[in-house]
Amino acid sequence: MMKLVRDKQDICRLIRTWQNEGQKVALVPTMGGIHDGHLALMRHAASMADKVVVSIYVNPTQFAADEDFERYPRGLEADMSQIAALDKVHALFAPTAFYYRDHATSVVPAGAATGLEAEARPHFFGGVATVVLKLFMAMPADIAVFGEKDYQQLAVIRQMVRDLDIPIQIEGLATVRAENGLALSSRNQYLTPEHAQIAPLLYQRLKESAVDMQQGRPVSAVLEEATLKLYQDGFASVDYVTLVAPETLTPIDQLDGQPDGQARLLAAVWLGQTRLIDNIGVSIG
Ligand code: PAF
Repeated sequence: MMKLVRDKQDICRLIRTWQNEGQKVALVPTMGGIHDGHLALMRHAASMADKVVVSIYVNPTQFAADEDFERYPRGLEADMSQIAALDKVHALFAPTAFYYRDHATSVVPAGAATGLEAEARPHFFGGVATVVLKLFMAMPADIAVFGEKDYQQLAVIRQMVRDLDIPIQIEGLATVRAENGLALSSRNQYLTPEHAQIAPLLYQRLKESAVDMQQGRPVSAVLEEATLKLYQDGFASVDYVTLVAPETLTPIDQLDGQPDGQARLLAAVWLGQTRLIDNIGVSIG
């Protein structure tokens, strides 16, 4: 039932054919390393559309030279069998080549792409926005589904789609977690057994902080305490723990100043060579 497509013209043609038949198409872009979080995105896509397309492409432009592009988990066979077993995906686009050798045009996102992840990874959102736009052109689906785990990425993609009038509906899906609370991520494979014990504490600290803020403790005090506790837990470094407005991602220091009382608490930490990110919604009222 699931078709493997290698060529961007072929996938584009297939999607257009479905759409000409009146079928709605939903897309789930991934870099492979398929886990239950991706499968949840695919299930959600299937609930919203007649056809589901998944892409697997490890995008070189979103990795800096010193990052994990070479060792990023790759295993098309294993990924394919997991996706096929789900029985919800109609086509898998796994391009062999996606950029032109002399590719020279990029998307330069600002706004939501400023600060947070961009501090540690300045090249990242430019690479993501560029490849996502290229993926949307190759796969002109009606809907694209992304996880809230990469919350800033989702905000950057929403902003790009709005700013550039890209005719696609962006759907965000709640983070899927292991039983111990750890947000599922392809990079969790890098964790040593010792680090895997510590990693779930990130989510615990975010949850505690959200409760503290909801109970009226000053945001700055809660964030300071969370940072301190993360170091005590054994995280090697804390890049940020911060409360932001859910759409613009501008830092906020008072929960009750927010429209609808909604905010997002985001964190990035290191365990050895592995960087983990997580986030949760915080609401009052
Ligand atoms: O979230 C990811 O897996 C990637 O950043 C994405 C959106 C597929 C772009 O390469």
